[in-house]
Amino acid sequence: MRAAPLPDPVTRDLWHPIAAIGDLRPGVAAATLLLDRPVSYAVDADGSAAAWEARADLPAGGPVTASAVAPALPTRVAYGYLWTCLGTPAAALFPIPEYAEPDRRNVAAASIGVNVSAPRAIENFLDMGHFPYVHTGILGAEPHTEVKEYDVAIAQDRDEILATRCRFFQPMSSTVAEGGMEVEYVYRVPHPFCSVLYKSSALDPARMDVIALFVQPMGQERVRAHMMLSLLDDRNDDTVIRRFQLMIFGQDKPILENQFPKRLPLDPRAETPIRADKSAIAYRRWLAAKGITYGTIPAAA
Ligand SMILES: [Fe+2]
Repeated sequence: MRAAPLPDPVTRDLWHPIAAIGDLRPGVAAATLLLDRPVSYAVDADGSAAAWEARADLPAGGPVTASAVAPALPTRVAYGYLWTCLGTPAAALFPIPEYAEPDRRNVAAASIGVNVSAPRAIENFLDMGHFPYVHTGILGAEPHTEVKEYDVAIAQDRDEILATRCRFFQPMSSTVAEGGMEVEYVYRVPHPFCSVLYKSSALDPARMDVIALFVQPMGQERVRAHMMLSLLDDRNDDTVIRRFQLMIFGQDKPILENQFPKRLPLDPRAETPIRADKSAIAYRRWLAAKGITYGTIPAAA
């Protein structure tokens, strides 16, 4: 079987998430799809990890010593997930400093298959306008449907999109919320297929919870959405936190899968801009400027 052609060089050289470390059985190979290519991966009991383009002699479910696999793809373990790259990756992955704060609960909440492109999944994550309609009674409720003015910029110090001053009334913003509150959001898009959301903590007004979406492009119209939470929550166990996040994502999944077209149009005239879409417009321009075509419909030259 011929391997699928590689995607645009920017996408090829990105770090991509492929599995939650907690989902791996040490010494046992597992398999997934990344950028249309079968990729296998494993960890050893000592935490060494490996990923490789699938081979007949190391089948999924079979025994493997990760540290002995050669040749292997570049790998790194970050934020509870295993990341790999089919090209030449950057030395560093984007930072999430909060992950290292000792009083946070870090949870690899879910890895969910969705039939949509990676850029559509990120764009939906950035969209506050859908809260009252899709997450009714939890992340939004009528009559609080207005998306208030907010700011979008490319961060000064890093190549990432930053949406700030986002505010939204939420009836039940998290597992520790006791009643509705106006929640402040900051969105970062530090990677073409990953977004990190900060939202007011219901426990500590001076700090924010972190909800990250790491999208694994299996194909141009098929992803696994990996959710990472870094929360101030001393009341609930991981099961309660996961269940809350799964409930939210279960509401998004059919919306995502009904997107048409499944790939994200990058032509500025493709869709009508409204205020809620300000971050989406910035995101589309940023992808286009980078030359990302994977999972998109590039603007006609
Ligand atoms: Fe949503």
